[in-house]
Amino acid sequence: MNTIKIGLIGLGTVGTGVLQMVMNNQDKVSNITGQNLSVKTIVVHDVNKPRNVDTGDITVTDDLNAIIDDPEIKIVVEVMGGVHPAKEIIFKLLNAKKHVVTANKDLIASAGEELAAIARENHCDLMYEASVAGGIPILRTIVNSFSADNIIEVKGIVNGTTNYILTQMQQHHWKYEDALKKAQELGFAESDPTNDVAGIDAAYKMIILSQFSFGTHITMDDMAVEGIQNIQLSDVKQAAAFGYTIKLLGIARRINDGVFAEVGPVLVPLDHPLATINNENNAVMVTGQAVGDTLFYGPGAGGLPTANSVLSDIVSVTKNIVLKTTGNSFNNFQAEVSSAAASE
Ligand code: HSE
Repeated sequence: MNTIKIGLIGLGTVGTGVLQMVMNNQDKVSNITGQNLSVKTIVVHDVNKPRNVDTGDITVTDDLNAIIDDPEIKIVVEVMGGVHPAKEIIFKLLNAKKHVVTANKDLIASAGEELAAIARENHCDLMYEASVAGGIPILRTIVNSFSADNIIEVKGIVNGTTNYILTQMQQHHWKYEDALKKAQELGFAESDPTNDVAGIDAAYKMIILSQFSFGTHITMDDMAVEGIQNIQLSDVKQAAAFGYTIKLLGIARRINDGVFAEVGPVLVPLDHPLATINNENNAVMVTGQAVGDTLFYGPGAGGLPTANSVLSDIVSVTKNIVLKTTGNSFNNFQAEVSSAAASE
């Protein structure tokens, strides 16, 4: 059986999850794609940092050229995060004809269209299911299952860290600082948790969701964004006394020819489905003109849930490679969607 070689950039919480899943879920993937997957090279910032995962005979280096210049590596997974230097790195990878899978919402929200254009020029896939709502396959669902409906609104809880903090404050009366520290220890928070608690991470995800839902590119400047830093334990208790819970919601709605979008703390009635989404879980409610309200729920952060979304993109890219090299197609929507995107 042929082996598709993968390069991995970043070996934090998500990178470690990706490595574990490639190693442990080989049989399932090869049954579906007819290909083996193998991580050949991992690029990290500090090669001497102790890791929680055995990298075996995989090359671990701080030299990006070990991936760029290796013709054997067809797919590169970027899970280092941040806009720079990730943008420049993905630019180089696409120009070197590597297919790229990323979980980087900051980058996709701010430069996704530019990078997608470079991917198209090079006939490469650029996929980023893991960039929104961690383990929930929401981008695929919008592309595949809402292709014929008009989406009116997309809203939800799209940041696991803040939902974890608000849940601990509400259910256990923890202090905000203690809950944040625990979320960092559990690996939900960004390396700089300011982006989580200030609503910026959720705003990046709403930008991507808006693009998929409405085909309209909005920027941070188009949105009102407020975080949860000023929410006190007393606010949470008072909300509960009146039958509400406080959730950080992202909302994007079609209005006339444009899109209205915002992120902020909202009083949600306790009997609303979004009020029941606790801890690091996320939920996205997509309202279609024909279908009405639909709700997608799952873990919004964490190594393995996010890695599962990365792996689903890797499988899609692998199917695409097989399609292009052998002409064998796969009888499912995803192969067709990613194939169309790559050949544009
Ligand atoms: N820091 C993010 C969150 C990770 O808490 O949701 C997943 O994007």
